[in-house]
Amino acid sequence: MSRQLFLACLATGLPGLLAVPAAVAQAPRFMLPATTFDYGVVRGPATVGRDTSRDRDTAAAPGNAARANELATLGRVLFYDPLLSRNGSRSCGSCHEQAKAFTDGRARSLGFDGRLARRSSMSLSNLGERESGFFWDDRVQVLEEMVLRPIQDPVEMGLDLRELERRVASEADYRPLFRQAFGDEQVSPERIGRALATFVRALASRSSRFDWAPSASSPSSSGFSTFSPEENRGMRLFFDACGTCHARESRLSYCRGCVISGLHDRRAPALTNIGLDLGSKKDDPGLGGITGDNEDRGRFRAPTLRNIELTAPYMHDGRFATLEEVLRFYASGVRPHPGLDPRFEPRGGASWPPPMLPNERPRLGLALQPCDQADIIAFLKTLTDRTFTNDPRFADPFVARAQR
Ligand code: HEC
Ligand code: HEC
Repeated sequence: MSRQLFLACLATGLPGLLAVPAAVAQAPRFMLPATTFDYGVVRGPATVGRDTSRDRDTAAAPGNAARANELATLGRVLFYDPLLSRNGSRSCGSCHEQAKAFTDGRARSLGFDGRLARRSSMSLSNLGERESGFFWDDRVQVLEEMVLRPIQDPVEMGLDLRELERRVASEADYRPLFRQAFGDEQVSPERIGRALATFVRALASRSSRFDWAPSASSPSSSGFSTFSPEENRGMRLFFDACGTCHARESRLSYCRGCVISGLHDRRAPALTNIGLDLGSKKDDPGLGGITGDNEDRGRFRAPTLRNIELTAPYMHDGRFATLEEVLRFYASGVRPHPGLDPRFEPRGGASWPPPMLPNERPRLGLALQPCDQADIIAFLKTLTDRTFTNDPRFADPFVARAQR
């Protein structure tokens, strides 16, 4: 039966037809499991030591804990639905692909009409643990509100909220999903935001080799027995050189059996300037573009390094194609931006490579020799979580794309 005919039948309220599931009445656009997925299940090692009940609560709408899974299911469909872009060409999932830990492999993301977004897509995982501060410049504080931004963005998806509501409300497939999630079929941007945010929070990555290492190895002074010597050395270097900015975002502070601890600096500003640019007017201002403060120019969020192996290219503008380039930058490419984070100032000529001439200025950056860089990369690859990138609960449910 054609969609028009089916909708016409619904409009005339044929009782028999109303009872027929969409799957029988017409080829469904998307397929969902017969039993709703449980998004509250955390399939990580027990030693990660988290209180998972908090996840459940934050995943659910206030006072609606039992509906969290239905909300996440609705959010999953919305996340992958190209109807949410003006010309039906892009969904959230187009720029946040599961196989790439929810990035898109591009330096700057591709919008619905072929124009490029201002910045590089961000990897999505464990956002349920972040209470506020989204995007590279932290400009939105509430996830429910954040998820409606790309829809309205004139380059990314290009829909206003009224049109969003109209489109979703006129799609019969959504009615049972709204009913299950909210108790009735009423569609509103606020409800769409809640469902999308619930799904995004459900994207939990807990099964990398690093996550399992504390429970799988006997701790020793040299690190984890399930890690190679290079990975263990890279881990120590990482916590020394990179951890103050990146450990919290990567949830590395949960490394319980880990011999390295105490390097987690809670006073560190969440957004820092790492000297990617010199500070000219045409640079992306980052946080400075939001606060208007000169000293915030060039400050960005230190993104999660979970699944970093899968999320190239790197930085807010995707300027580095490989992790080798990133590490070379930290060792010898940091530039003297006026707002540069003090951690990158040279200390006692320790930076690498050392100055060649006696009066040469010591280089900015972190003291990392080539072998250190290689070991840190070996460690970073232990943060890859294939369980996460293959988890059917997070997969694209749309039939047409699955068959492509
Ligand atoms: C055209 C590509 C594109 C589309 C479509 C898109 N995004 Fe994004 N997403 C991005 C880019 C680029 C950023 C970073 C933007 C910035 O910081 O200015 C981002 C950032 C995010 C973040 C912030 C993550 C963090 O750590 O702060 C979330 C969450 C997110 N997107 C979810 C979504 C959802 C939900 C949708 C669909 C409603 C969506 N995105 C659609 C490209 C896209
Ligand atoms: C002073 C804080 C700070 C330190 C120290 C630091 N980083 Fe970063 N890192 C950041 C910030 C901020 C960004 C985002 C910069 C941007 O895009 O403008 C970033 C970005 C990255 C990225 C790219 C992430 C992505 O999704 O594109 C990688 C990889 C990375 N850092 C690895 C490291 C490693 C490895 C070290 C240690 C050798 C390190 N960082 C040390 C703050 C820091």
